[in-house]
Amino acid sequence: MYWIFPQLELYTWDLGLMYRRSAAKGSKMAQIKMRRAVEADLRSIAAINTAVFLGDRDRLESALEWVTCWFHAYPLYQYFVVEVDGTLAGYAGWQVHGGFKRAEPVVELDQIGIAREYQGLGLAPDLMRKCMREIVEWTKQKNDRIESHVTFVVWGYTFNFNALSVYAKQFGDGVCGFRTQFGSRAESMLRLRMPVILPVRDA
Ligand SMILES: CC(C)(COP(=O)(O)OP(=O)(O)OC[C@H]1O[C@@H](n2cnc3c(N)ncnc32)[C@H](O)[C@@H]1OP(=O)(O)O)[C@@H](O)C(=O)NCCC(=O)NCCS
Repeated sequence: MYWIFPQLELYTWDLGLMYRRSAAKGSKMAQIKMRRAVEADLRSIAAINTAVFLGDRDRLESALEWVTCWFHAYPLYQYFVVEVDGTLAGYAGWQVHGGFKRAEPVVELDQIGIAREYQGLGLAPDLMRKCMREIVEWTKQKNDRIESHVTFVVWGYTFNFNALSVYAKQFGDGVCGFRTQFGSRAESMLRLRMPVILPVRDA
């Protein structure tokens, strides 16, 4: 049962996909892999974090400390990464809310970051979908009280159009909440209630 050794478990989805930019570059097909993060990924995750997010912008060591804290919070917090030809191109961090045995589990996409040189290639939507599938499977094994759905939520800056564009496609219930948490930047919450098919079990 893999949650016993969570950080050692390496999930690899070798999509065997044609890397969309390969054609444009006239180069060979690239390999895209999505998997759970391992400790050795943390510096690369931090490098992306410090480049694309404001929280630890241009402070690599601080970003490393932050992502390391979350990494060690597994399974409360779960990191996934996407590699392109062996280079870590992006990551996503998901947080389980409100306990592990909720009848209505809620998992938040806390962060998704794609390195600048890999943005605009559709990596984030693919990574999100794979993560959601994997988290649903993980939740089904961990939680014997799920009633019918796993609910995914994400908060995004309302005017981060690139992110909101991706979220709107993946979080199909649409915008379900608003807040202003960081300064005066408006944020929107999008949601997806994903149905879960469960085996018949004793009451
Ligand atoms: C937002 C983000 C995760 C999207 O990932 P991605 O892999 O680039 O996603 P996509 O390739 O599907 O692009 C999403 C949209 O952004 C646009 N886009 C992405 N990168 C772009 C760039 N560098 N310049 C202009 N447009 C860009 C795409 O054209 C697409 O627009 P469309 O939906 O209207 O076609 C990524 O751009 C990123 O890491 N941004 C910085 C961090 C961030 O804002 N994270 C989200 C908040 S947690």
